[in-house]
Amino acid sequence: MADKNRENTEKQIADAGKIYTKRLEKHHDELRWLYMELYDNSSMFAELTERLEGLYRERSRELKSMDLSRESRPDWYKQNDMLGMMFYIDNFAGNMKGVESKLDYMEQCNVNYIHLMPFLETPKGRSDGGYAVSDFRKVQENLGSMEDLESLTAACHKKGIRVCMDFVMNHTSEDHEWAKKARQGDGEYMSRYFFFDSDQIPNQYEKTVPQVFPTTAPGNFTWLPDAGHYVMTTFYPYQWDLNYKNPRVFNEMMYNFLYLTNRGIDIVRIDAVPYIWKELNTQCRNLKQVHTIVRMMRIISEIVCPGVLLLGEVVMEPEKVVPYFGTVEKPECHMLYNVTTMATTWHTVATRDVRLLKKQLDIVNGLPKEYVFLNYLRCHDDIGWGLDYDTLLGEGIRERSHKEYLNHYFLGLEGGSNSRGELYNADPVTGDARFCGTTASMCGIEKAGAGQDREAMEKAVRLDVMLHAYMFMQSGIPVLYSGDEVGQVNDYTYKKDPDKAEDARYIHRGAMDWKLAELIRDKTSVPARIFSRLDQLEKIRKSEKVFTCQADTWTIDTFDASVLCIGRYYEGEKIIGIFNFSEYDKTAWINETDGIYTDMISGEKRKAAGVDIPACGFVYMKREE
Ligand code: GLC
Repeated sequence: MADKNRENTEKQIADAGKIYTKRLEKHHDELRWLYMELYDNSSMFAELTERLEGLYRERSRELKSMDLSRESRPDWYKQNDMLGMMFYIDNFAGNMKGVESKLDYMEQCNVNYIHLMPFLETPKGRSDGGYAVSDFRKVQENLGSMEDLESLTAACHKKGIRVCMDFVMNHTSEDHEWAKKARQGDGEYMSRYFFFDSDQIPNQYEKTVPQVFPTTAPGNFTWLPDAGHYVMTTFYPYQWDLNYKNPRVFNEMMYNFLYLTNRGIDIVRIDAVPYIWKELNTQCRNLKQVHTIVRMMRIISEIVCPGVLLLGEVVMEPEKVVPYFGTVEKPECHMLYNVTTMATTWHTVATRDVRLLKKQLDIVNGLPKEYVFLNYLRCHDDIGWGLDYDTLLGEGIRERSHKEYLNHYFLGLEGGSNSRGELYNADPVTGDARFCGTTASMCGIEKAGAGQDREAMEKAVRLDVMLHAYMFMQSGIPVLYSGDEVGQVNDYTYKKDPDKAEDARYIHRGAMDWKLAELIRDKTSVPARIFSRLDQLEKIRKSEKVFTCQADTWTIDTFDASVLCIGRYYEGEKIIGIFNFSEYDKTAWINETDGIYTDMISGEKRKAAGVDIPACGFVYMKREE
């Protein structure tokens, strides 16, 4: 018996070796080509491939078998049941163990993919919400340990929940061991960052490189008086940009990446990916070498952990985002955020004019179906008003005054708005400002609650639910921002914390209010009204294959500027969703003559023609078979 077991194990190991060799052979030449093109360093390449094999060997049997099964179904993540939720571990449940104990709540929310916001070691007060990592192999002490992470990912996998984490590869914290050595003047480590002994080159960079945080962290360089050097810091001064021209940086970061995926991470969110390569006299964004690096990461993951997905964080206009999918033959990221659509959605809320949104959705719907977008209404970051201003100009709308209108609208100052929130990084020079707030507050729930205004609350809840219904209808995978499922409003307590007070993004990073989640049982409460309606929509999504990412998705003219109509078709099934962005009852003047439809909420049968949609309401209709 013991012999038999040993034989089996040896066979599995031998098979695993063969699988690895096969994957490596498939990709080796391209990987080598790209690596040599960037670094021209064969000994570092040899080191890389040797370490990859070691990291593959260290990968657990469970994860390897998951890789195999996902490899055999490469579309596994494009199914209609995918629903994500993102949250900060401490806000949501205190620590990793707390999250593990709340997986039933995730199931109750129909969520099968969770994004754990940054949880690696980061200095208190200089963390940028965890995006300044000082140790890529250590969990923040208050959140738990690597063992807790492994236990959490294993528990999630048992329930069919996938786990996403951030890989902050553009920079490290100034407290990272490399940064500390660099600061002490160790050349080996200085070469892993961008160090300059005078302001001459930094000044030259500043001529072409835009600013990410113009008011909270102006400039792209920080003077280190103790080191007598400037260091490049695109984000906060304590976030030092890594220099990917140094192959040591690339190799080590790949080992960190694989170390983390070996803990059971399913989806890696590559933070701030457009920034990872810098060249003088450029904007230092989206340079071609960034794509070489992302492509190498994709190849590396396909060799070592092919079950893992790459999610690129590219907060830019559509023409800059799409190249991060790579090509169908040479893919880069599996998924990208649908950021322009998100910003355009809020523009539509503020203007009640769906034209720009329709145009934006048409662009996304016209892309190959291999490209999977993550759709969201809110996330942990601010909303930048990156809209298609050329199109808006054609309608006489100018960028600067329109951004001002949007900010005024969401501050609740203009346009009949009940929104609440705050501005972020208002730049006095460009007149630019971004916006922070939760979905519920931006829909008017906070104001209606404070004023105990039942009518306003009714409208706000309708708007909130309609926006989710619309998001679920978009092509791609929806991701909820934790708290939105129960209508959680802005949290102003950050102002009392000196470490956070300067950063308005904390207004929508409040701790999960579990009292709201308890109220789900009280059917008349606001949280219950939102939760139950989202639940209904999520279940529809899960049960109808037409919500798969492979479905055709398109927009339909409604002949009403406030009403958006989206159609979906997959293998003979067709549904349409109609969304009224105005506070007046409207009629969608559509005329689909291909049969009788059923209202998926009320069950009523009707024609898909001249459909009445209540103020801030929506309709989902399915064509009869
Ligand atoms: C990403 C994060 C943001 C962070 C930045 C710097 O954009 O979403 O929160 O400030 O990267 O790491």
